[in-house]
This record gives sequence, C-alpha cells and structure tokens, in this order.
Amino acid sequence: MSKCKAPIENTSGIEHIGFIMDGNGRWAKKRGMPREYGHKFGAESFKKVMEYCGKIGIRAVTFYVFSTENWKRPQKEVDSIMDLLSGYLDECQRELRKYNIRFVFLGDKSVFPAQMRDKMIDIERASADNEYTVNLALNYGGRDEIVRSVNKLIAEGKKSVTEDDISGALYTKDSPELDLIVRTGGDMRISNFLLWQSAYAELYFTDVLWPDFGAADVDAAIEDFKKRKRRFGGV
Ligand code: IPE
Ligand code: IPE
Ligand code: MG
Repeated sequence: MSKCKAPIENTSGIEHIGFIMDGNGRWAKKRGMPREYGHKFGAESFKKVMEYCGKIGIRAVTFYVFSTENWKRPQKEVDSIMDLLSGYLDECQRELRKYNIRFVFLGDKSVFPAQMRDKMIDIERASADNEYTVNLALNYGGRDEIVRSVNKLIAEGKKSVTEDDISGALYTKDSPELDLIVRTGGDMRISNFLLWQSAYAELYFTDVLWPDFGAADVDAAIEDFKKRKRRFGGV
C-alpha cells in the first residue's frame, strides 16, 4: 500500500469489497465489559483489515462504520464511538502521506461537529489523487443515499432519471462495482448498507465477531467468493 512499492497483483477477483463490521457489543459483553470496549477493539480490526486489503491489491474497500440508524443508541455509546472516530481522523490525517489510499466518507457530513467535518474534508482533499480507495460509511444509510441522489438530480433540473444518473450521483460514484459484502457477527441482513450497489454483489456471512476478524478471515471470505458462479441474470 506504500506509495513507492511496485504494483500489487490482485488475485482475489475482487475490485470492491464491503464490510459490515458487526458484533463489537457482543464481543465486549462476552468479556463482561461495556459495549464501548468492543468498539475500541473493533477499531483495531478495521485498521488491520484495511491494511491487509491493500496488501492483496483490492482497489476499493468500503467499511460500514456508523449508520443513519445508529444514532438511536444510548448517548454514552454514541459519544464513545464519536470519540474513537475523532481520534482516528487525527491519526488518518497524520499518516495520510504514508499510504496510497484515497479516503472517501460516504454519508451526510453536516451532522458532525465542525472540527470533525473539516478533518474529513481535508482528508478527502489531500488523498484525492491516490490509487486505492477506502470508503468510510459514516452517518450512512442506503435509502438515504438513493433519496439524496434523486433529489440532487431533480435540483439539477432532471425531470426523469436513468440508472446511470443515479449511479453517478451516489456517494460511491468513483468506486468500482461492488463484488462482495462481508458481514461479521452472525446476522444475515444488509441493515441499509449499499442498497443500490449490492444489486449483484455476493454476500458472505460469518459468525466471527468484528473485533476477532482479521486477515485469515478476509482470506476465507475471498476463497468462498472464488467458488461463486456470478451469472448477473445470464446463464
Ligand atoms: C458494530 O457492532 C458497530 C456499530 C454498529 C457502530 P455493534 O455495536 O452493532 O455490536 P453488536 O451487534 O451489538 O454486538
Ligand atoms: C450495522 O450494524 C451498522 C454498522 C455495522 C455500522 P447494526 O448493529 O446497526 O445492525 P442491526 O441493528 O443489527 O441491523
Ligand atoms: Mg450490531
């Protein structure tokens, strides 16, 4: 992932992978600890998985960090997630130059405190020309994204819209097609993640809780993906 290294050969068959990072709370509960403890370890898994996906040459990775529905959680938990996030934004800003990653924040930034929002905008701007993409879905909801895109097109004067119009107005407009969604934590649902983009994505569910998820688990998901027959409606 370093800027000076030779191009990495991507043998995964995946251009774009999405992670629904679930199970932090249960991981902490199993240890008799508060949910916040799980989020702290979950953040470490996120960094490891991001690093590993770059190492194996995957062009785009999307992480579901915080949904439009997650604001419903107790204020103490929301605050602790925002603190972790703010700390990560600082770290990201500091280390940006080390990596060949273009960071994109998927979601409406306007709800965040100005300080956090400015950091996100700065990170996006400073990394815009990098080769690999890491999308961080923050205050993100798939339905919200589609509604916003259509409203944006209406505001631009469109009377009717095409699929390409919508794809081009989504937060992910500059990412390749989504190939695979991995959800940890054992639940088999999408929870409002990349609804439009997942139309023909493969889905992989694992019982592993996110703080326990690492490179070997990414490999297991990729091996499973390689066995899939993607027909896209054909034969
Ligand atoms: C995922 O873990 C992190 C966020 C949604 C922010 P959870 O906090 O949902 O953990 P569980 O599902 O309750 O175990
Ligand atoms: C999905 O997990 C959202 C993120 C991972 C950010 P949730 O824990 O919010 O999903 P549900 O509530 O189980 O559907
Ligand atoms: Mg959960």
